[in-house]
Amino acid sequence: RPRVLSGIQPTADSYHLGNFLGAVRNWVAMQDDYDAFYCVVDLHAITSGHDPKLLRERTRVSIAQLLALGLDPARCTLFVQSHVPEHAQLGWVMGCITGFGEASRMTQFKDKSSKQGAERSSVGLFTYPILQAADILLYHADRVPVGEDQRQHLELTRDLAQRFNTLFGDTFTVPQPHIIKETAKIVDLQDPTAKMSKSASTANGLVELLEEPAKAAKKIKSAVTDTGREIIFDAENKPGVSNLLTIYSALSGRSISELVSAYDGKGYGDLKKDLAEVVVEFITPIQKRTKEYLDDPGQLDKVLAIGADKARNVAAPTLAKVYDRIGFLRPA
Ligand code: TYM
Repeated sequence: RPRVLSGIQPTADSYHLGNFLGAVRNWVAMQDDYDAFYCVVDLHAITSGHDPKLLRERTRVSIAQLLALGLDPARCTLFVQSHVPEHAQLGWVMGCITGFGEASRMTQFKDKSSKQGAERSSVGLFTYPILQAADILLYHADRVPVGEDQRQHLELTRDLAQRFNTLFGDTFTVPQPHIIKETAKIVDLQDPTAKMSKSASTANGLVELLEEPAKAAKKIKSAVTDTGREIIFDAENKPGVSNLLTIYSALSGRSISELVSAYDGKGYGDLKKDLAEVVVEFITPIQKRTKEYLDDPGQLDKVLAIGADKARNVAAPTLAKVYDRIGFLRPA
């Protein structure tokens, strides 16, 4: 079976619909046809300042949500990045074959550092995409399911894999991004020109999986829609309505064209009212299951211990090979 790897940050109390529809939904779908590795990237989560107690809590909540969303430890390897020290170790090596200019071109760094200025951003935030490359290359992943915002990081990963292979001999699989066009960029409910994002969206712009269902419903009902009144899919001219159709289709399994004909002659209000219901029906059981996993910390720890073991079994031989190829003297 081909291999898949992806990661998600534990930086919030809840994931949002963008995380689920752009990434985790595909992770769940790929569990059977791929040898799947998924990690909660806590090393990445300390790049912009954080609270230690919150990070620990959020890492647990993240794992619990991923399980609630359908990741099955019997069918995939689910682990916490810092439990596998090879990530940081390979990150260093990859950093040494990355050009400073090349790293400087990463737009996510430019966006994230623009608030406090590059001068005050951490070096960790700058080298973040290099660590991400290490995450992927350690597992010889063939595919990496992510949202559109990760495309440039995947390009860097491919470049670094090829460069290492050329410099030191064939070592890494060059991975392909796995980006499902329809759901690759869920946009902000209040500002459809921006992606839905924990850090950039206003509270009303994003739907969190663990928020009060009534609140989520209200956000959908007050989503910004476009001029005109026709319910059609046109991401360019009607980004608000099109985003609602995308979310509706993905959560309900009904195709966009089926929805468009079902809402022919109806108004934006009807669409939003029904979608609000679909969203509530989706998040309510997720919340119940997340809570169940959190209420059984022993079981969660066990899942993570098994995951870390399985991950290390792949990561350690890769790192050993890398150390050998680059000429490190191995301890006798
Ligand atoms: P993160 O934690 O920001 O986001 C997790 C995943 O959610 C996707 N996503 C979205 N998709 C569609 N629409 C949106 N509005 C939206 N917002 C977020 C992201 O594209 C991502 O797939 N750098 C990564 C984490 C990472 C990683 C890796 C990913 C670390 N190592 C190795 C893949 C492979 C990140 O910050 O994702």
